[in-house]
Amino acid sequence: MMGFGKAVACSNIALAKYWGKADAVRNLTAVPSLSLTLAALRTVTSVRFDEALATDELLLAGAPVSGRPLARVIKLLDTVRANAGIQTHARVESLNDFPTAAGLASSASGFAALAMAATRAAGLEPSLREVSALARAASASAARSVYGGYVSLGARAESAERVAEAAAFPLEMLVAVTVAGEKETGSTDGMGHTQDTSPYYRAWVEAAPAIYEEVRRAVLAADFAALGPAVEHSALAMHASMLAARPALIYFAPATLRVMERVRAFRKSGGRAFFTMDAGPHVKVLVEPSAATALELELSKLEGVTQVLRSAAGPDASWIDA
Ligand code: DP6
Repeated sequence: MMGFGKAVACSNIALAKYWGKADAVRNLTAVPSLSLTLAALRTVTSVRFDEALATDELLLAGAPVSGRPLARVIKLLDTVRANAGIQTHARVESLNDFPTAAGLASSASGFAALAMAATRAAGLEPSLREVSALARAASASAARSVYGGYVSLGARAESAERVAEAAAFPLEMLVAVTVAGEKETGSTDGMGHTQDTSPYYRAWVEAAPAIYEEVRRAVLAADFAALGPAVEHSALAMHASMLAARPALIYFAPATLRVMERVRAFRKSGGRAFFTMDAGPHVKVLVEPSAATALELELSKLEGVTQVLRSAAGPDASWIDA
């Protein structure tokens, strides 16, 4: 069908975190990051370029969206239109197959699926690398969602690249969804505020490349004992830079700390699991498949944990034939 494209992309959770921009205009990251793509958190997006439309339209789960989310979508569409030499407006429909009420970040899978669908709808035939660069300009973590398995995005890199196939190191992620407090500051604003006001931001940027290298080496060696501590260190070092911002950016809720504590207790009793947190109160726990069921049960019993999602590693983003 002319002017139509549909695609699916999975979300990803960074094992080595990105926080901070080297170039805010081009959205190039200040530090390298490495993530695991998650099969259970998917976004399906369709784009239809239509001469009858006077403006671009965005529907999330069927509901029209305006303001900043729409502006970010229009910016990506403008790039696609410039590349394709067209001026037509588009209708974008996006659906997450995970509970969005949970407040889980969907910009990574969302912009990856949008970049896939929009290029196809515009009649372009981009490589995954080109789609990743397009998604990165909209939201840097989205660059990583174009690929499945373990994926890295270098500091100042245009696009992400695969580090290892999921099958080479089969880990799972438990997402402990916690009751949120006040509305959180989004990643883009949060990292800008950290860069502007936190005396620890510089220390984070200096430390991040070595932490990233540690994570990358452990992934390539499929060494969970080496990977886990580096993953926790990356998240906590990032949060330390946020905590030192003025005013402080505190993403932890009481239940966030409860989950972290339970993961540490799980390790003390001989289990192997490691936590990470992003710009929100939920805790993501990296675990070997053999231990996932037991830990999932333990986490779901904690006060303030509303739900535990379990996910294996996900595949590359892909186009869906209409
Ligand atoms: C804490 O990719 O959402 O999840 O590029 O401004 O859209 P923008 O930021 P975004 O930031 C993600 C931050 C993080 C860590 C990570 O995913 O690496």
